[in-house]
Amino acid sequence: METIAVVTRDCAGVNAALRSVVRTATSHKMKVQGVIKGYDGLIDGRFLPLSRQSVSGILYQGGTILKTARSKRFLTCEGQNSAVKTLQDHAIDGVIVIGGNGSLTGAHVLATITDVPVIGIPATIDNDITGVDHTIGSDTAVNVALDALDKIRDTATSLERIFVLEVMGRDCGYIALQVALAGGCEEVLIPEMPMNLNTTCEEILKSYEIGKESWIVIVAEGQAKAHDVAQVITEKTGLETRVAVLGHIQRGGRPTAKDRILASRLGNHAVEVLRKGLTDHCVTIHNDELCTIPLEEAIQRKTIDPTAFYALIKLLT
Ligand code: F6P
Repeated sequence: METIAVVTRDCAGVNAALRSVVRTATSHKMKVQGVIKGYDGLIDGRFLPLSRQSVSGILYQGGTILKTARSKRFLTCEGQNSAVKTLQDHAIDGVIVIGGNGSLTGAHVLATITDVPVIGIPATIDNDITGVDHTIGSDTAVNVALDALDKIRDTATSLERIFVLEVMGRDCGYIALQVALAGGCEEVLIPEMPMNLNTTCEEILKSYEIGKESWIVIVAEGQAKAHDVAQVITEKTGLETRVAVLGHIQRGGRPTAKDRILASRLGNHAVEVLRKGLTDHCVTIHNDELCTIPLEEAIQRKTIDPTAFYALIKLLT
């Protein structure tokens, strides 16, 4: 294997993974072509040659130095065939895709339509990749959201208010659950559990009767909009409510040590398995052991049972 291409999506830790890929590959005398702007760049043949030096100083940078895009064209057969042609035209012998569900779905498609081996590295704040305990970026996102929550708690307790904090998580409540437990929240609303705001409001009123003076409700964006939740709470309890929507600040910023370490290990492993000719797989760590799982399995919707975790959050508030 002489030349590999790397496609990226953005979240904290992606640059750390890219650096690891480049430095591992170059240690094997392989060339690395960074793909500019995700799958669109693969279709258009937009490459940036990467050397050991060119990935210097990116370990701690958020986002992706390669830029990225949600490619509509790669969803079409025409776009996919153009991408395969690009690989042939540029003599690419292997592809590594660093990203979340959409990117890894693209990697699986690519692996099935070309002989060029394709390996995925799971990187998304949502932590929703099946068979993967921790995706790159998820630890940073949880810490960013927790930091915001701690600050909001200061105002919530000082003014005896109810706050509704919306965190990211398109189809999953990973960030919401982690932050709720780590930050001692009174309620958490996630797509994996039915929402009953009547019960929440009854709990708020009961707790205020026995002297509680503030509540923080965390809501995952995939379950409800914070403003809607706040409106219902105000209407049903008559209590003053404020809203904070964290949005994309959770996806950026300097990766935590945990994310940098994960990214460095997975980037290295991805190159090693790619060199062996493995394709259509995603690298991950299970029980601290590096391993691989089929991409087809990884991109299935991740199902979790949040019951015990939720019960603990409620018990400890
Ligand atoms: O999948 C990661 C994620 O940040 C989700 O949590 C969020 O719903 C989505 O991406 C936002 O996507 P975009 O940046 O394209 O608006």
